[in-house]
Amino acid sequence: MTDPARTPFDGAVTRFFESEAPDEIRETVRKARDDSVILDPNYPYPRRLGGKEYREAYRILQIELVKLQAWMAASGHRLIAVFEGRDAAGKGGAIRRVTENLNPRRAHVVALPAPTEAERGQWYFQRYVRHFPTSGEMALFDRSWYNRAVVERVFGFSTAQERERFFLQVPGIEQALVSEGVTLLKFWLTISRAEQLRRFLARERDPLKQWKLSRIDVESLGRWNDYTDAIREMFGRTHIAAAPWTVVRADDKRRARLEIMRAILSAVDYEGRDPGAIGRRDPAIAGDPLTIPL
Ligand code: ADP
Ligand code: MLT
Repeated sequence: MTDPARTPFDGAVTRFFESEAPDEIRETVRKARDDSVILDPNYPYPRRLGGKEYREAYRILQIELVKLQAWMAASGHRLIAVFEGRDAAGKGGAIRRVTENLNPRRAHVVALPAPTEAERGQWYFQRYVRHFPTSGEMALFDRSWYNRAVVERVFGFSTAQERERFFLQVPGIEQALVSEGVTLLKFWLTISRAEQLRRFLARERDPLKQWKLSRIDVESLGRWNDYTDAIREMFGRTHIAAAPWTVVRADDKRRARLEIMRAILSAVDYEGRDPGAIGRRDPAIAGDPLTIPL
């Protein structure tokens, strides 16, 4: 398993970990005994949420999500949730938990590949707009138009001029959705550098996770600070009153997933909503970009 030639990208993650990673990050990952230890030094809890507590809260929130969807089908309400975050933040996993017990016909997951040549010739938002929901539907975006702000900046996939146009257009588009009556939620899942490295190492070693490891992941290993700069700029220009960001600490996937479900359920005034079931929001786990550190 540790034969570098047999791991994806020739063991590039392991090599980065052993020779290039900042010492404190390497030490943090090395010292972690198991998955239950939270690696983020600023995390508000020492350990991840216990399984029993998680499963109990999870089940109750799933029931509320089913109620939300039934009400959306009856009322025609539309919802868009954007899931963004650094590589390995857990976007796909969080989306799978939100949709687990929903009718897939009315809950679409949108995970678009890199744009094709034809798409590159279109208005940048065009390929996303195609997937916006019709009445009674929710669309959950695993990555979104915000690629232009972050990964495209870090890797130079678009020009500074294209990004400027993007930032000028975003508020109008999002405001238009909201004034249409669409519920628009924007989640940024934030993980610590040590946790990201731990997850990349797991992807490299585990044959069931290797498909998740991409060239972008490998090349982003040394670009942590470039990402941070891009993320800051994105918040600065797109955290708007009509469509604010919700930043979710995602070193503990369980707490992150529960908070995301609570945020979705709190955003819509669906029939039969049970505030007791939704429970208290945890402001130390999910908040706005000013209260949760990157
Ligand atoms: P993911 O993390 O979603 O599995 P990757 O790590 O491979 O995917 O890529 C990260 C993001 O960068 C994806 O949304 C992908 O579409 C985007 N991307 C990759 N290559 C390009 C490119 N040449 N131009 C624009 N976007 C790209
Ligand atoms: C990510 O955030 O990189 C992925 O979506 C991981 C996952 O599958 O949860």
